[in-house]
Amino acid sequence: MAMKTNEIENKSVPTIVPVEEDFPILKTLINGKKLVYLDNSATTQKPKQVIAAMTHFYEHCNANVHRGIYTLSRQATEAYEKSRQIIADFIGASFDEIIFTKGTTESLNLLASSLGKKLQPGDEIVLSEMEHHSNIVPWQQIAKEKKCILKYIPLTAEYTLDLEKAKKIINSKTKIVSVTQMSNVLGTINPITELARIAHAVDAVLIVDGAQSVPHLPVNVQELECDFLAFSGHKMGGPTGIGVLYGKRKLLENMEPFLYGGDMIREVSFDNASWNELPWKFEAGTPSIAQAIGLAAAVQYLQNYGMDKIVEHEKKLTAYALQKLSTIPGLKIIGSAHLDNRGAIFSFTLDGIHSHDVSEILDREGIAVRGGHHCAMPLMSRLQLPGTTRASLYLYNTEKDVDALVTGLKKVQKVFA
Ligand code: ALA
Repeated sequence: MAMKTNEIENKSVPTIVPVEEDFPILKTLINGKKLVYLDNSATTQKPKQVIAAMTHFYEHCNANVHRGIYTLSRQATEAYEKSRQIIADFIGASFDEIIFTKGTTESLNLLASSLGKKLQPGDEIVLSEMEHHSNIVPWQQIAKEKKCILKYIPLTAEYTLDLEKAKKIINSKTKIVSVTQMSNVLGTINPITELARIAHAVDAVLIVDGAQSVPHLPVNVQELECDFLAFSGHKMGGPTGIGVLYGKRKLLENMEPFLYGGDMIREVSFDNASWNELPWKFEAGTPSIAQAIGLAAAVQYLQNYGMDKIVEHEKKLTAYALQKLSTIPGLKIIGSAHLDNRGAIFSFTLDGIHSHDVSEILDREGIAVRGGHHCAMPLMSRLQLPGTTRASLYLYNTEKDVDALVTGLKKVQKVFA
């Protein structure tokens, strides 16, 4: 008898030491050098448990979900819906509050479109200066369409959000506050519960962009007190093409669907249609089935490893990286120096050298970092920077990777000396 999809993940408990063994790609040679992968804010590498879960699905369980009255379709449906429950448990939500999307960007577009339908001229939407384009552009479009006003919580000199100013900006006209939990550029971790309370005091909803936080921190939506949380599978060891929108049931029930088509309906006539119940009301068309199963395998991988251990590991690496990078003359870290409110994302400038040149020369050493504006052009303009080089770490990175980066940066400086 074929193994059920999720049995495969439970049987392959990850080896905690060394974690690198679980990520086959980390043995790859790039330009003759061992890969040093430091672009985890863009996407993460996949453990073999995730790859195996998806392969197993395609080899043994592949069928469409919710449609077939036959065994294979029932098995696919069971594996897909079991994945939803695993993800719900991971963030302290209920099954029907988890909507599968393509990723954080689609989750935020869904919210802008659906919540946007109820906005009135003059209503205010509050974002922060450190948002990714995906948490700015959808709101700009809705604000233009509905004649609403966009406001931004400013940064402090320490690259944190100015909460005193936030308290003044968020007022009785505010309907939506949407902020990142961890900046993809600065690494700053924002005080979400405090922001939720400020937003709720004026009856606004609090949306959290969790793309950078959910993979790295234990995130519980009850503790955060947020109304919505968006995140992506591929930044936490899962595949691309799958993400999550968590929403409080009462709020989701009162929202209009985002996409229309098969599976999201209850009944359709030539003139009209009514909607399916949660969460399927928001999942039109054939969903990303294998990807949802892959994401659940990634979640189980992280749970088996331990989110607390990830925090501990990344904190140690952060302290190490900040100290090592500070020894490079002409290097300026664009982010907080305090370990308690930042993750392992290091944006920096090197005097006189463009970030694209830094990335290209590091690539010759097998080191992958991102250079540029990191999809945060308003933040770059606020910081008066054309861009930064960014190294972002995950559970499989080690002090050796940081050492390789430091050595690589010294080589970059020699090339430009
Ligand atoms: N949001 C991703 C990044 O910051 C793509 O690199």
